[in-house]
Amino acid sequence: MTFPFTARSTAADVLAGVDLTGRRILITGGTSGLGRAAAEALRDAGAEVVTPSRAELDLADLAQVKAYGEKDLDVIIANAGVMAVPERRLTPIGWELQLATNFLGHFALITGRRDRLRAGARIVVVSSGAQLRAGVDFDDPHFERRPYDPWTAYSQSKAAEVLLAVAIARRRPEVTANAVNPGRVHTNLQRHIDAATMRALGAMDDNGDLIHPEGYKTPEQGAAGEVMLAASPLLTGVTGRYFDEDNQAAEVVAGGPEPMTGVAEWSVDPAAADRLWELAERAVRTS
Ligand SMILES: NC(=O)c1ccc[n+]([C@@H]2O[C@H](COP(=O)([O-])OP(=O)(O)OC[C@H]3O[C@@H](n4cnc5c(N)ncnc54)[C@H](OP(=O)(O)O)[C@@H]3O)[C@@H](O)[C@H]2O)c1
Repeated sequence: MTFPFTARSTAADVLAGVDLTGRRILITGGTSGLGRAAAEALRDAGAEVVTPSRAELDLADLAQVKAYGEKDLDVIIANAGVMAVPERRLTPIGWELQLATNFLGHFALITGRRDRLRAGARIVVVSSGAQLRAGVDFDDPHFERRPYDPWTAYSQSKAAEVLLAVAIARRRPEVTANAVNPGRVHTNLQRHIDAATMRALGAMDDNGDLIHPEGYKTPEQGAAGEVMLAASPLLTGVTGRYFDEDNQAAEVVAGGPEPMTGVAEWSVDPAAADRLWELAERAVRTS
């Protein structure tokens, strides 16, 4: 399974010649960064794109997500996210903030209403290469007994998002669900990263100006993968897969500190996907 796009393709490239008239697409976090770039390209191709802001749909607040009324959607792009929140923060139901926002809020949004999705709908989950670094710690997902680490919490949430796509693919044959790593892009996502770390990553110069090391993408390139999964006819029927920053389906690898590409075994493990689904269902039901 190969697709005629590369890491340099833009969202507009992916949609060249595609008419999305009549399609209704919801993008979380669609007012900033990659989500905004995706929304623009999808609108240009004729889709009706709904981009609720955090004020209308706060994913960390399950009550708001449960009450959210949007329905009859052809696509949900679970794109909103927070990264490396410096201190351990909990939502009102006691979930660690990154896992709650990036994973649980999207779980509740996607599974919340029977009439949310039209037949044949596509679910797109925007994950990250960070899923390679840590899987879901089912013994202590909210860092109650282990020391909180902002990056481990982010990685866990991004592995959980891939498991969400895997779980939907296993349970919902009437829709498709895939996850994507957009690659590295300067956006508001880096708001919690201090200047020293940005410099160490080679992403900021001594004057505090952003620079683009090799491999960094523009927002339009970073949005290509999510748009491809959401709307390219080439993806019809493809489900339960993780696409890497080159916009190709990834190989399964052993997760850890080393690998730069691929999807970690713990991110696509069917048993972990089922276990996480049950954890999330219980949280939504009892909240
Ligand atoms: N940029 C990268 O290098 C990179 C790499 C790998 C993966 N990703 C993933 O790509 C996705 C998009 O990130 P981005 O780079 O475009 O970042 P961004 O510019 O910060 O956009 C993130 C969006 O998520 C929204 N959001 C955050 N918390 C929310 C909440 N509780 N409820 C509702 N919306 C919330 C933000 O809203 P506010 O504007 O109100 O904060 C913003 O619209 C994320 O899932 C991220 O993990 C990005």
